[in-house]
Amino acid sequence: KILKKSKTANIESKRFLHRSKTWSSSPFSTNSISMPLLLFSRRFLIFSTIIPFLVSIALYRLDTFDPALLPPKALDYSTISLPSLVNDKLLTGAELIGVGLLNSPEDIAYHRESNFIYTGCVDGWVKRVKVTESLTDSVVEDWVNTGGRPLGVAFGLHGEVIVADAYKGLLNISGDGKKTELLTDAADGVKFKLADAVAVADNGVLYFTDASYKYNMRQFAFDILEGRPHGRLMSFDPTTRTTRVLLKDLYFANGVSMSPDQTHLIFCETPMRRCSKYYINEERVEVFIQGLPGYPDNIRYDGEGHYWIAMPSGVTVLWKLAFRYPFLRKLTAIAANYGLDPMIFMANAGVLGVDLEGKPIALYHDHKLSHMTTGVKIGRYLYCGSLLHSHIARLDLLKYPAQKRL
Ligand SMILES: *[C@@H]1O[C@H](CO)[C@@H](O)[C@H](O)[C@H]1NC(C)=O
Repeated sequence: KILKKSKTANIESKRFLHRSKTWSSSPFSTNSISMPLLLFSRRFLIFSTIIPFLVSIALYRLDTFDPALLPPKALDYSTISLPSLVNDKLLTGAELIGVGLLNSPEDIAYHRESNFIYTGCVDGWVKRVKVTESLTDSVVEDWVNTGGRPLGVAFGLHGEVIVADAYKGLLNISGDGKKTELLTDAADGVKFKLADAVAVADNGVLYFTDASYKYNMRQFAFDILEGRPHGRLMSFDPTTRTTRVLLKDLYFANGVSMSPDQTHLIFCETPMRRCSKYYINEERVEVFIQGLPGYPDNIRYDGEGHYWIAMPSGVTVLWKLAFRYPFLRKLTAIAANYGLDPMIFMANAGVLGVDLEGKPIALYHDHKLSHMTTGVKIGRYLYCGSLLHSHIARLDLLKYPAQKRL
């Protein structure tokens, strides 16, 4: 859309040039052309600059969107948590799975026993793909349609698939795919508006995030632009069927993962560039990793001592400016109402592997990549989900390892 617009703008400016050429090549004396040229340019100035400027001011003042200052921590770039091992060409060597069949596969869950990958797509389908060494015989299967927007996917203790559906809430889909049950869609009297990610503890308790109680999936960019904490971390206990708010006032509460020793959760706050620990028994919060090189989405544990934090965008100049200046976020929001996709700010997506203490180990990223929302390590491969693409990308970490930075 934006490309098209700039094309027509180009054509118009060419037309204008053409017109001004005919003016100057007209057989009048220099004196006689200066008058119409002057008039023309004054009118041009009014139409091209002053009126749009006044309209913009009016729009800006009338618009009620009111972004907030972000906490100083979100604007602190003094230390960036970078590992010593980096592969900055993630796209080189990445193989694509289910091209055209997986529409924005946001999260990935791997079912070891059946060797299936489950992923939630923008058309409401939870799809599954048999993982094979050679991708030519990987088959994509439409499994269950939630009628919403499945984001987070995880496995329950009884073979069921638990889905954090952005529109529906927390869902329980039976292992045979025949029954879908809504577990919860509200807590403390506040409905979820953007259920986002889910993790399952060994004792069966479900831990999940609602990124925002204010904006839904279609409007999620506005939550980020507004810069207020509308996110919550919650638990659902299937034995008592109770939903508990563990933490509220989180900045776009996104991915969540259970620690292997089951003592705490790690959860991500996208605009804060931070992941925190939540100790379940002590009900205590602690920073896990901050100053991330990008804005974290899902976090997944690989069963081998590492979490993988996906970042749909790296820190870019545009995001830096927008996060610092609320008026820029307001302008972006107004432009977004007129069709601009604020997600054009996204670039340099990647996945950061960190150890159990939150120490960065390896970063896989690519300047040409954006909207990478999850990274799951299965065997020697890193499987990557996306909010934009219609495939899952996988990278052979042995063939294309992260290497020492020079
Ligand atoms: C999900 O539903 C199945 C029945 O289809 C049930 O056995 C299981 O306990 C449920 N899981 C949760 C977490 O409620």
